[in-house]
Amino acid sequence: MTSQDCDIGLIGLGTMGRNFVLNMADHGFTVAAYNRTTEKTRDFMAGEVGSRPIKAGYDLNEFVGLLKKPRAVILLVAAGDPVDAVIRELLPLFEPGDLIIDAGNSHFTDTNRRFKFLAVKKLHYMGMGISGGEEGARRGPSLMPGGHRDIYDRVGPILEAAAAHVNGDPCVAYLGPGSAGHYVKMVHNGIEYGLMELIVETYDLFKRGLGLTPAELAPIYDAWNQAELNSFLLEITAKIFTRKDDRTGRFLVDMILDKAKQKGTGMWTSWDAMDLQVGTPTIDAAVVMRDLSGYKEERQNAAKFLAGPTYTFEGDRPRFIEQVKNALYASMIATYSQGLALLQRASLAYTYNLDLEAVARIWRGGCIIRATLLEDIRTAYKARPDLPNLLMDPHLAQAFLAREADLRQVVQVAAGLGLPAPALMATLGYFDAYRSAVLPANLIQAQRDFFGAHQYERLDTPGSFHTEWDK
Ligand code: 6PG
Repeated sequence: MTSQDCDIGLIGLGTMGRNFVLNMADHGFTVAAYNRTTEKTRDFMAGEVGSRPIKAGYDLNEFVGLLKKPRAVILLVAAGDPVDAVIRELLPLFEPGDLIIDAGNSHFTDTNRRFKFLAVKKLHYMGMGISGGEEGARRGPSLMPGGHRDIYDRVGPILEAAAAHVNGDPCVAYLGPGSAGHYVKMVHNGIEYGLMELIVETYDLFKRGLGLTPAELAPIYDAWNQAELNSFLLEITAKIFTRKDDRTGRFLVDMILDKAKQKGTGMWTSWDAMDLQVGTPTIDAAVVMRDLSGYKEERQNAAKFLAGPTYTFEGDRPRFIEQVKNALYASMIATYSQGLALLQRASLAYTYNLDLEAVARIWRGGCIIRATLLEDIRTAYKARPDLPNLLMDPHLAQAFLAREADLRQVVQVAAGLGLPAPALMATLGYFDAYRSAVLPANLIQAQRDFFGAHQYERLDTPGSFHTEWDK
């Protein structure tokens, strides 16, 4: 291979980066690879690369020299300062028209900032969400790129070849201008948090409520994954329950400390939902539960101090398991509804002009929230692109309503047993609020007007009114 013959370059040879380089090369593209620590690059070249069309740059100059012009480079480095650091280093080596693609989980406001900064230097920038973990990067992830349409077209064939495919459709689409891609990825992760929390709440109901063991749980979740609940997260959950611990011989899940970590993308989703005044209570509850899980010691003390009901379920167990399944499915629908309603709103607020059918289409494969349900979601947006909420789609509404009574029952059981199920409960509250033509917010308005003269509107006459309530 001669210099300047690489179709694309990638900076950051962690597992994701290495796998994505191999993936692109396996689809016939010539790829330049670079990592700040040269040792990592050497190991990669000596190991997995083999005879693939991959070239290493051992310093940034050499790396940039390997790229066809106009150049295109994907960054797979940690979100935050490392992205700015790499951009700073590339600046003196890049020429007008070259393209930098940030494929990390960058906050969308950082993407906007970098986009503007680089535009002044006549460099192109794309923020691209990538989902599917290490395996996805290697075998086909879901890719969520945003930026200029014509710049997407430049790298589109590479991304479309490397992405996951569902029924021949690549799980990648140009999503919109500026930070549209990173915004969609952020909301993907918010939905991911919501779905994960819902699943773990069902696990808790079965574990503490019914006393089921991982061996008993595995076939339940596996069976669920074979039907309408079919999804990546249920598939891995069923597998997790079968895994034994090498050290103790017990089920590994039982040996894992109950403190959930987070890198922030779920919290960003809740933040921005609040900013845009879109309710995402299932996702919010999921973030709160990750936070609460971190207070292990405090919870251990509180467990001795704050007594609650005992966790013994006395009802019909097979029926309850079926009800939990239905509650989970209804709640999954509501979680996607909340995330996509946020995207609908953000699309207007940030002029992303998102095509939500395309979003649902590229989430059907490769990503963490892939699920059979996304096919119905896609159909819903195809029929009505401006759908304000998925619960207003006749088919999805029917699917929710058919399971609503079971969700109510499960929430009641959780409350009765004293088992925390805030995401399931928030989902039910969301549904009941959304379908309420009349909410008690009239009283909030009265209170605001009472203590702050904030005024209120009336049902019978237009205008703003104030009452001297104490007089
Ligand atoms: C994905 C994942 C990926 C990552 C999360 C984990 O789509 O492939 O969402 O981006 O695993 O960032 O996030 P937390 O560490 O916050 O759970």
